[in-house]
Amino acid sequence: MNIKIVEVGPRDGLQNEPQLISLDLKIKFIEKLAETGVGCIEVGSFVSPKAVPQMADTDTLLMNLKVREKYKDRNISFSALVPNMKGFERVMNLPENSRPHILAVFTASSDTFNKRNINMTVQESLKVIAEVVSSAKKYGFEVRGYISTAFWCPYEKKIDPRRTLNICEKLLESGVDELSVGDTIGRASPKDVKELLELVLRYIHPSKISMHFHNTYGMAIANSFVSYDLGIRTFDSSAGGLGGCPFAPGASGNVSTEDLVFAFENSGIKTGVDFAKVIESTKILPIKPRSALSNIQNIIM
Ligand code: HMG
Ligand code: MG
Repeated sequence: MNIKIVEVGPRDGLQNEPQLISLDLKIKFIEKLAETGVGCIEVGSFVSPKAVPQMADTDTLLMNLKVREKYKDRNISFSALVPNMKGFERVMNLPENSRPHILAVFTASSDTFNKRNINMTVQESLKVIAEVVSSAKKYGFEVRGYISTAFWCPYEKKIDPRRTLNICEKLLESGVDELSVGDTIGRASPKDVKELLELVLRYIHPSKISMHFHNTYGMAIANSFVSYDLGIRTFDSSAGGLGGCPFAPGASGNVSTEDLVFAFENSGIKTGVDFAKVIESTKILPIKPRSALSNIQNIIM
């Protein structure tokens, strides 16, 4: 496989939908996604139910999915967002067979966004994250660290790449295994991506980085290819191109998994993902998919 896809639809996709999706549909959606060939699925968030009501059932969801039991012989892992120690306690309250393999902590390159998202400055959140990571490591979890607004912030506009590099380094110092570098509002251009990655990759190995593009301005596929050319091999994407962050005004869906897979596969880059199965999985949801492929009646092969 040339690249690994991290499917974030059940979390990033559904967290921003005005319509609450039932537990039953979420389970069916995730079980279908698990058959598509993606390497990881982010299933939910242990965040405040007041902040993000769409993710309030993450505990019950994982108890039903029993990911460590049902998928133990499969080459797939499951992750969930954990913002603080309270979130970590919720993970530990789950039976062992239901705990996600990967805990995802998250901060940002801009204080204004971070305050609105998790009510902490970046500095404050790094302290909280260090505690979560050290606890997670004691129990053998892998940890992924998101850096939101890595390129552009809806409040502070263009972010200095050196600031993002600094946060990436701090997250790695705290013990995070993998970084997910996020264009939260989908405003980064291929030039911005090249500028940031050329700097970051001087200090951090590309195997430590996943790119997390949103497609608000239609540049996510172009940005993924620029990243690939610079050595990145892991990409976050969302089935149907659903998603967005409720605390980032103007942010629309993630790059769609089916469009990204189609673009890579048709460029000779193996993903191991069946794009037709991804399209099928979105049909479970009562939400209109926003991908290019989902609008094409007969995909010419
Ligand atoms: P806060 O209000 O500062 O927290 O929120 P607090 O510690 O003062 O607690 C307030 C209340 O929340 C208390 O309850 C706590 O118990 C409860 P009360 O006494 O009022 O009944 N609480 C919790 N409940 C459940 N689980 C928890 C938890 N923690 C506290 N873990 C907090 C701080 C971080 C909790 C809140 O702001 C929050 O949950 N934010 C989540 C925001 C979020 O999920 N955003 C979307 C995900 S990030 C994203 O989409 C970007 C990404 O995709 C990458 C990209 O695109 O860039 C990852
Ligand atoms: Mg996102």
